[in-house]
Amino acid sequence: MLATGTKATATPAADSRDAEVGLLWKRITGPLEGFLDQVSAHLVGQVRSFDPELTGLAEYTLQGTGKQLRPTLVGLVGQALGGTTEEHVRVAVIIEMIHLATLVHDDVMDEASLRRGRLTVAARWGNETAVLFGDCLFAQALVQAASFPTPEVCRTVAQATQVVCTGEILQTRYRRDFERSRHSYRRILEMKTGELFALACELGAWCSRAPAGVREGLRRFGLAFGTAYQLYDDCLDLLGEEQRAGKSLGTDLAKGKLTLPILLAWERADARDRSRLERWIREWHPQYLPRLRQLLDRYQALPGALAEVHDHLTRAGRELAHLPAPVQKEGLRAAAEFLARQTDNLTTPG
Ligand code: IPE
Ligand code: IPE
Ligand code: MG
Ligand code: MG
Repeated sequence: MLATGTKATATPAADSRDAEVGLLWKRITGPLEGFLDQVSAHLVGQVRSFDPELTGLAEYTLQGTGKQLRPTLVGLVGQALGGTTEEHVRVAVIIEMIHLATLVHDDVMDEASLRRGRLTVAARWGNETAVLFGDCLFAQALVQAASFPTPEVCRTVAQATQVVCTGEILQTRYRRDFERSRHSYRRILEMKTGELFALACELGAWCSRAPAGVREGLRRFGLAFGTAYQLYDDCLDLLGEEQRAGKSLGTDLAKGKLTLPILLAWERADARDRSRLERWIREWHPQYLPRLRQLLDRYQALPGALAEVHDHLTRAGRELAHLPAPVQKEGLRAAAEFLARQTDNLTTPG
């Protein structure tokens, strides 16, 4: 299920490592198979909520072809707290719909043509439809969130959505601006990606009626895990292969998004390399990529960025360690281990 998307030049050794991580993911999600199937079925069921003239578009977007990371976290939290219920399924569907909406919009902004192994909504239906359909998805997620007996779910989902969109706005604002990106990068990662993972954990715990302290601890786990995931994804954008990732890569450079490897190289570079880097980023062309990779190597920028993924995962592990004993943490711990292994696979030579 999990398209790892690592390795620009796949080798048998790289393939076997990918297969190993794939197995680890299967072990994590195996016990959640029924739960994740229900989430997929409910997502497809949402198609009926859209105008019949949008059925094709809604089906295309809501068919479950992603990795289901956020629903998996909802399920793992449910499992950690005594088992998943129908409420967990509903919450997972809401969060996945918000995620889908952000992807549809993100692909417009990044001018990406490939998502989940297929054309993006924007590439197939055009930017105008993609923007408006992304809004429809947000709205439909909120309709579902409002169907809970208390306003808490709807409020929490709406607040998290605002944080995610603000993160994307700030990132767009600081494109090609090294100084401001450097100061805001980590906060933007937490906002645009960490927040939704935090929401998945927090609401998963809410559905299990967990006490406030446990909910907050799990929320912090999700935030650290999600931030690590975006950091990993930012490295993947530089190192990965589109076909394996199933999505357009290299868009961060093309759009002037300054991600950690680039920022670390810039911070560490001598004056000459710094101005080369600034010149390339000002008007990026894919032909610069081999020279950029050399420059990143010179300043050990990728190992530095990947070490930071591990730092966030260590923080996530600490949050789990602080949770009281009745919480069954194995699944969540394994999810963090899985991401650590994926991260190592980005660098290990074939
Ligand atoms: C993509 O998220 C956007 C990022 C936060 C990097 P996923 O990698 O979870 O995308 P899908 O859901 O599997 O397509
Ligand atoms: C987007 O980040 C994260 C969102 C909030 C949607 P990216 O632009 O890195 O996501 P991908 O690489 O396109 O999946
Ligand atoms: Mg993108
Ligand atoms: Mg990316």
